[in-house]
Amino acid sequence: MARSDYTIEQMISAKAIAARVEALAREISAHFADSDKLVVVGLLRGSFVFIADLVREITLPVEVDFLEASSYGDATESSREVRILKDLRGEIAGRDVLVVEDIVDTGFTLHHVLTLLRARGPRRLEVCALLDKPSRREAEVRATWTGFVIPDEFVVGYGIDFAQRNRNLPFIGKVRFADPAPG
Ligand code: IMP
Ligand code: MG
Repeated sequence: MARSDYTIEQMISAKAIAARVEALAREISAHFADSDKLVVVGLLRGSFVFIADLVREITLPVEVDFLEASSYGDATESSREVRILKDLRGEIAGRDVLVVEDIVDTGFTLHHVLTLLRARGPRRLEVCALLDKPSRREAEVRATWTGFVIPDEFVVGYGIDFAQRNRNLPFIGKVRFADPAPG
């Protein structure tokens, strides 16, 4: 049910995102300062812009890996079933791991991914999420660092899509539908 009758209203500017990413990277660098092996794990596809900016502000040696989990189809409703579509290439046992997520919504995706990764015995496992929609939370999960807490709006841009579109917007915007959603 991909709808084309919508407009996008800016919610967080590119400038505000850049400032927040820099601050997050500073906290992350301080937290893992004693680490010589930080593995930054991006959850595909929504985190690809965020992780690219974030790792360039982190002042520690990092390794970058990706994991793809599915929770959304092309609709705006989350499904509880989480499948791993692409696993990590590297080992994380005994290593310091930072999971980078675009949005924590119901929390099912992150909960599933953290359970999977924790079972592999990382030394430390932390999460940095760009956005958090706490009002929608159903699974018990919290990011260590959050960029912005936002209300229950469907957002796009800065890597985040609606039906695979709008990932290339430099800002984060909320989707405004032209007419009320059908039943
Ligand atoms: P959760 O399992 O409900 O927490 O879903 C998290 C995932 O759903 C995020 O990583 C996004 O890919 C997607 N998602 C949640 N909210 C939005 C949104 O407002 N716009 C686009 N994707 C979203
Ligand atoms: Mg995602």
